Amino acid sequence: MCGIVGYVGDQNACDIIIDGLKKLEYRGYDSSGIALYEKGELEIHKYKGRISNLEDAIADYNFKSTIGIGHTRWATHGEPSDLNAHPHVSMDKTIAVVHNGIVENFVELKEWLIKEHGIVFTSGTDTEVIAHLIQVCYKGDLTDAVFEAVDKMRGAYALGVVCSKEPDKLIAVRKDSPLVVGLGKGSNFIASDIPALLKHVREIYLIENNETVVLTKNKVTLYNAERQEVKREVFHVTWDADAAEKEGYDHFMLKEIHEQPKGILKTLTRRLGENNEINLDGITMTKDDIESFNKVYIVACGTAYHAGMVGKFIIEKLAKIPVEIDVASEFRYRDPFVDDKTLFIAVSQSGETLDTLAALREAKRKGARVLSIVNVVGSSVARESDDVFYTWAGPEIAVASTKAYTTQLMCMYLIALYMGKTKGCLPIEEYTRYLEELKEIPDKIKTILKQEKVIQNMAKELYKREQVFFIGRGADVGVSYEGSLKLKEISYINSFAIAAGELKHGTIALIEQDTLVIALATQDALFAKMLSNIQEVKARGAYVVGFAKENNKEMGRQANQVFYIPECMDEITPLLSVIPLQMLAYYIAKLRGCDIDKPKNLAKSVTVE
Ligand code: G6P
Repeated sequence: MCGIVGYVGDQNACDIIIDGLKKLEYRGYDSSGIALYEKGELEIHKYKGRISNLEDAIADYNFKSTIGIGHTRWATHGEPSDLNAHPHVSMDKTIAVVHNGIVENFVELKEWLIKEHGIVFTSGTDTEVIAHLIQVCYKGDLTDAVFEAVDKMRGAYALGVVCSKEPDKLIAVRKDSPLVVGLGKGSNFIASDIPALLKHVREIYLIENNETVVLTKNKVTLYNAERQEVKREVFHVTWDADAAEKEGYDHFMLKEIHEQPKGILKTLTRRLGENNEINLDGITMTKDDIESFNKVYIVACGTAYHAGMVGKFIIEKLAKIPVEIDVASEFRYRDPFVDDKTLFIAVSQSGETLDTLAALREAKRKGARVLSIVNVVGSSVARESDDVFYTWAGPEIAVASTKAYTTQLMCMYLIALYMGKTKGCLPIEEYTRYLEELKEIPDKIKTILKQEKVIQNMAKELYKREQVFFIGRGADVGVSYEGSLKLKEISYINSFAIAAGELKHGTIALIEQDTLVIALATQDALFAKMLSNIQEVKARGAYVVGFAKENNKEMGRQANQVFYIPECMDEITPLLSVIPLQMLAYYIAKLRGCDIDKPKNLAKSVTVE
């Protein structure tokens, strides 16, 4: 996590860096800082809290610098504070460093720097060792010094380095943490993610692992770990810069909720050819490959994992193949049973989540075929996969994921349908029926979005609760988990999701007078069972908010409040039922006065273990 930005060129570096950091604030926002080369030395300013604190503090300085680096932080080593904020500087104050990642051997490096070089440390961070390390390696050439320092480091890092002795040069290094370079005219840039650069450039280099980049205002040179120069194709960004703006919405989250019909339609139409054929353009997986798989693993984190829960349900049902799902941080360390007959599906919005990336590498090492579902084109997960199924959600800025989730679900449906049809286990009429229903989803979501007022009123009734239980069965279980996560991450209400049938095996002990239970009962086949579960919690005093399909009006008689979603096949309801839950979480958090787009302790892109 953390965001880094760097600039070298003719323009005002401070303005460019601050503006870029604001676009990266989703990556971490507990402190921020900037290093600028001004009047022969490095000026460092860094503050705890949001980027606005930094901006306010330096507003009157009127910096003229044309080279600098900046950072927005999500603390790993050392609490959020002015002192621990980046950039960190070498003891002789000539070298400044911003870092996204973790230096795993920082303790041993720190001891060595103290003992052998008399370095005095001032912060509690791992990053500070990098600045000192580069200083002790410096013998007149910054590039040499960075290479030597990086050689001594273990861990994950994207680095930006400037040095007052070589004020025309910005150096960046990447190992496992994302890094892009923006190519301008008389201006070059580094950043953790493309939105930070879109205002200035559209030509990008996607930096690979173990590469070092030396930037001056007119030249960008890439080196591999052996210090050989490498050539890189220019990646041309085609998205609209406005995609990363709020466009009149109060929050990115609300804007992104409303963008779902568009994103889902795009994800579907990009893969749908004539006569309802799903086209796998750019995907190398053959019919023989599909027939050879005897197991699917879906591995992801957070919301993407919840998309995997629905994926398991749908792939097993349509493609008749066993599917295991796992959170990436567990998968990678438990020696999972994976071989060359395994299809490994990694799901990730950012494509940079370190646990997911590591799990993918582990699966590949064991011979699995890797297909990823990713939103960010050219991200690490995308690049390291055998095949990529892109979600066409557009940039997702709010920390709480919404449109990435529903577009991930759409990919799951398409993969399941394709596999089912290819294997011959899904009759063509069924295949066509699913696709026809999927095509109607964007309009059905629009119908739900029009009922925003109903959800707002519901939120007014519920926002003071401090505990919520989400229950559901079948396809509703995964959605219950996602609805619960949405609510807890942005409103800080203690929220818990459980399969409705499992409630009676322990959790029901927590249900008492007025406990809020959100019951998802969108599965016709399981509706009667859900009504029984609702009766069970009501008998213990629960206040029930029910979500059901329009035709299941009995819900209105059983629940204290009800929201109806449009009719559709049971298997497809997750694409609809999650929408009111996202809106409910949003409006509850808003009424509680929470910072919706930047919830406490979280970050959008988690590039540490
Ligand atoms: C973080 C975010 C979540 C996200 C998860 C996985 O925890 O706060 O919203 O679901 O990472 O991210 P990914 O980019 O891999 O989907």
